[in-house]
Amino acid sequence: MSAKLAIHGGEKAIGTRLPSYLESAGRTFGAEEEALVLEALHSGCLTRNGGKMVPRLEAEFAERLGVKHAAACSSGTASVHLAIAALDPAPGDEIIVPPVTDIGSIAPILWQNAVPVFADLDPATITLDPADVERRITPKTRAIVAVHLAGQPCALDELSAIARRHNLVLIEDCSQAYWAEYKGKLVGTIGGMACFSLQQSKHITCGEGGLFVTNNDEWARRATLFADKAWPRDTKSLGSCRFLFLAQNYRMSELEGAVALAQLRKLPAPVVKRRALAARLDAAIKDLAGVSAPAVPSNTKHSYWLYMLRVHQDAARATARQFGDALVAEGVPAWVEYIIDPLYLSPVFTGPNTYAASGYPFSTYGSQKFEQGLCPVAERVLHEVIAILWNENYTEAQVDQIAAAIHKVAAHFAGN
Ligand SMILES: Cc1ncc(COP(=O)(O)O)c(C=O)c1O
Repeated sequence: MSAKLAIHGGEKAIGTRLPSYLESAGRTFGAEEEALVLEALHSGCLTRNGGKMVPRLEAEFAERLGVKHAAACSSGTASVHLAIAALDPAPGDEIIVPPVTDIGSIAPILWQNAVPVFADLDPATITLDPADVERRITPKTRAIVAVHLAGQPCALDELSAIARRHNLVLIEDCSQAYWAEYKGKLVGTIGGMACFSLQQSKHITCGEGGLFVTNNDEWARRATLFADKAWPRDTKSLGSCRFLFLAQNYRMSELEGAVALAQLRKLPAPVVKRRALAARLDAAIKDLAGVSAPAVPSNTKHSYWLYMLRVHQDAARATARQFGDALVAEGVPAWVEYIIDPLYLSPVFTGPNTYAASGYPFSTYGSQKFEQGLCPVAERVLHEVIAILWNENYTEAQVDQIAAAIHKVAAHFAGN
């Protein structure tokens, strides 16, 4: 007879709350951040144009990643916007995107009046399926945004080959995948450009922020200008300045830069810890019927922003929703079904709710039909996953408690 589930009034498998990214127990802030923040404050200059922290962050990020240029900005969404602006698509040009990601991977495409085109996913890794990407290419396609979801690298060899064949730019969205590896290389170093988020929940954070990287001098120049109103700072005075193209103010402040710099210097430890803890959970649920660990191809190293637990409905005798709700009640921090619907079913697309009632750019340039069936694999896998929030500050004992909670819920639904 299995133990009574917490969702039915039984005792929780996890009695004390696990560290959360919303509090210091779940973050890695310490004396290093404090010292750099104070240094920035004492300098009297909190803007990057005149300050030292953001330029240092950019230089060190590029160096540690092994790329030529990095540009800091105000969010991960902004970093994707820098990439799209560097690409400089014409209105109506198309950019291929996955339907399971944060909207920040996609909204910047619409801000540049280009058209996002959704491609379906590989059911095992929940990242872009290269064969489907290739099917969605048209003469208007300019780029592919490859999102390394939850920390799992995409099939980068295949996507790079497609990009080369069709003369497209591969943009890596590494917001969830700091220091993940593909064939021994860090993600973010393989595509033409790459983007990172420094938002509160990420492996490293300064609350809000982003980083754009590239080896291409011209894209770096455009991206850097785009984050700063296309204001070439080498002009001597405001009076002599000419604004070069339509751009944003996405500047990162020196206080954010100070925290981000201290956080950067802590890599790769948080990723290494997350990996070891994930391996521990993998082992603990290996023989359990009805659920499985995230599938990690042997040529990749996952960085576990999330631990995507897979529920096999028939074997588990429960849906991911039922299983996940029970797990959350046991004290496991998780987003059941991750984002519930693929993004093309959000009102921004189904409306479309873009620029007032115009429906632009879809109304002018056409679009896919934003309805069920557009990406069937994405629709199916979202109903098979429970995104367990992962954290480098979990102890091994806490991971064992998560494993115990999974076993308890599995036993309940199996009727043991
Ligand atoms: C894959 C991905 N891309 C982009 C973003 C946008 O980042 P931000 O929230 O910093 O704008 C996120 C944030 O969660 C993300 O996960």
